[in-house]
Amino acid sequence: MAKYIVNVQNKKSKIDKNIYGHFSEHLGRCIYEGIYVGDDSSIPNVKGMRIDVVEALKNIKVPVLRWPGGCFADEYHWKDGIGPKGNRKKMVNTHWGGVVEDNSFGTHEFMELCSQVGCEPYINGNLGSGTVQEMSEWVEYLTFDGISPMAELRKSNGQEKAWQVKYFGVGNENWGCGGNMRPEYYADEYRRYQTYLRNYGSNKLYKIACGANGSDYNWTEVLMERAAQYMDALTLHYYTIPGGWDHKMPALGFDEAAYYQTIKEAVFMEELLDKHSHIMDQYDKEKRIAVIVDEWGSWYQVEPGTNPGFLYQQNTMRDAMLAGVTLNIFNKYADRVRMANLAQIVNVLQAIILTEGEKMVLTPSYHVFDLYKVHQEAILLESFISQEDVGSNNYSIKDLYESVSMDDAGQVNMTICNTDLNEAKTIEGMLQGFEIKEVKGRVLSDKMDAHNTFEEPNKVKLEVFDGVNFTGEDFKVKVPPCSIVQLTFIGV
Ligand code: AHR
Repeated sequence: MAKYIVNVQNKKSKIDKNIYGHFSEHLGRCIYEGIYVGDDSSIPNVKGMRIDVVEALKNIKVPVLRWPGGCFADEYHWKDGIGPKGNRKKMVNTHWGGVVEDNSFGTHEFMELCSQVGCEPYINGNLGSGTVQEMSEWVEYLTFDGISPMAELRKSNGQEKAWQVKYFGVGNENWGCGGNMRPEYYADEYRRYQTYLRNYGSNKLYKIACGANGSDYNWTEVLMERAAQYMDALTLHYYTIPGGWDHKMPALGFDEAAYYQTIKEAVFMEELLDKHSHIMDQYDKEKRIAVIVDEWGSWYQVEPGTNPGFLYQQNTMRDAMLAGVTLNIFNKYADRVRMANLAQIVNVLQAIILTEGEKMVLTPSYHVFDLYKVHQEAILLESFISQEDVGSNNYSIKDLYESVSMDDAGQVNMTICNTDLNEAKTIEGMLQGFEIKEVKGRVLSDKMDAHNTFEEPNKVKLEVFDGVNFTGEDFKVKVPPCSIVQLTFIGV
């Protein structure tokens, strides 16, 4: 029997809604086909954006979307993607499958997408192969409302009013595909580029510096030492790649050991946040600078028969557990982590949506974001749960991961993951300082490799969960194996 104490009086940081953000790159079938089909497509669309996909994204309240990459960002020249579509330059997408990029989805289309979804844009500029002038002009094009060459160009392309763009990334993975730079060199480049990213009118940029590759703590140290005063956030990229780059596992057809290995590697996120935050604390005690985990999620072999450069993989309950555990970790680090972007939103890596022609499937990972949307902008509460070890000797993990928050209406929302594949967990809990009147719940639960297909799109789905007993401040709940339970407690 696990014990669970929530101290409702001990309110911690606000959980930034942007922790539930997503990432879209010009990679495989993410943008083209997955989101944008063009306005002459037979697939129902508004201004070229798939209606089914946009509606699904609105349902989980996607707060922020990162674009155009990824590695693609550092070879993207934004002027190729504006103006009449017939005149737009065609290029080779050298990173991702060597396919032709016709630039029919560019700045205007991305801003239209964000407006249809109701999310904030997060634009990643090109530091690796672009110029300071090019990046500076993109900001001017997007956000300047007066008379200037870029504002005139925007108007001539049909957008009279400047947009509001807050989140702006200065390069991507500049330690790798974004230029193979040393942290000292990137820190100087970051300082130079960001100087020319201006705040026009009421638009105030939130400048995001490229952060570390996983456990490269030296990168964080150097960036903080040399450029902290010029940034609002520092990113972190960490993928769960069980088996490693050279021996990636399949997304389907894995055994229990592979499941536990995957979750164990995902949980490493906790150590990463702890150590990077600790370094940042040395330079920024007030935690002014956020950590943005703008690429995270699982990375497996591509589905057999698909283009290896398209990174198309299926998505199972294993991925849902990975997402559930990770999002609980992000919530717990809400004092530093203020945005995260799962890679990637449609048809790529740990996608929440898969498409095939006009068909669309919501993956188990999608349903996790549906369960966790209750935490957006809520206040994290202090909580403690007793945990036991599960899994095998090599891949031993903890069985229970949770986080709990209080929303604007004073309701307490809890998300509990039971990572144990075989045993349900009975939890005796207490909401100290909160008398319970009513509890509502939902659950995502299935076998570790259960997944949705175009033939059977609702194999894994959310169900109502009503297995909670309560009196006063106390409650008791039995969480099924390999499941995520979300509970809403309404007070007297
Ligand atoms: O998400 C796929 C790729 O992974 C991104 O383009 C890159 O930033 C990372 O290495």
